Amino acid sequence: MMEKSFVMMKPDAVSRRLMGKILTRFEEKGLQIVAIKMLSIDEDLAKEHYGEHVEKPFFNDLVSYITSSPSLAMIIKGDDAISLIRKMVGATNPKEADLGTIRGDFAIDMGRNVIHASDSAKSAEREISLFFNDNEICDYSIIDNSWIYE
Ligand code: RTP
Ligand code: MG
Repeated sequence: MMEKSFVMMKPDAVSRRLMGKILTRFEEKGLQIVAIKMLSIDEDLAKEHYGEHVEKPFFNDLVSYITSSPSLAMIIKGDDAISLIRKMVGATNPKEADLGTIRGDFAIDMGRNVIHASDSAKSAEREISLFFNDNEICDYSIIDNSWIYE
């Protein structure tokens, strides 16, 4: 099923100049970027985005990390994009993430794991509306579609 996922390069990815490399992985896979913007996430937005973790011991560190410097927010579209992108991102703990995944290749610490991706259709919908207005999402078709999809 065609899906849209919310994906975000965290402050470490932006400040380590990894944006191009990471974006290339999604483009080369055949996924489509339909929205993209750099933003400095404030405390309220960070707490809302990671609301499910409010009771966790790492919550304050997570909010400081995410608000420390700009992030790159994106909406990425493709067939089964939500689970596919979670696979490309790899396990939460980069030490356990398979090599070949983004976290497995670019990160070491759980608290500096370079990227976020929606974990379900419900979170994707919530996160997309939290970060983007409808007029920031571009609906366009790419002519190589018949070479990506059967
Ligand atoms: P994300 O939401 O950022 O895509 O990451 P995830 O689904 O793989 O992992 P999640 O459980 O949602 O955790 C959110 C982020 O919190 C940090 N974290 N630290 N120190 C810890 O035990 C710990 N656990 C999670 C990570 O930055 C993780 O991505
Ligand atoms: Mg998560």
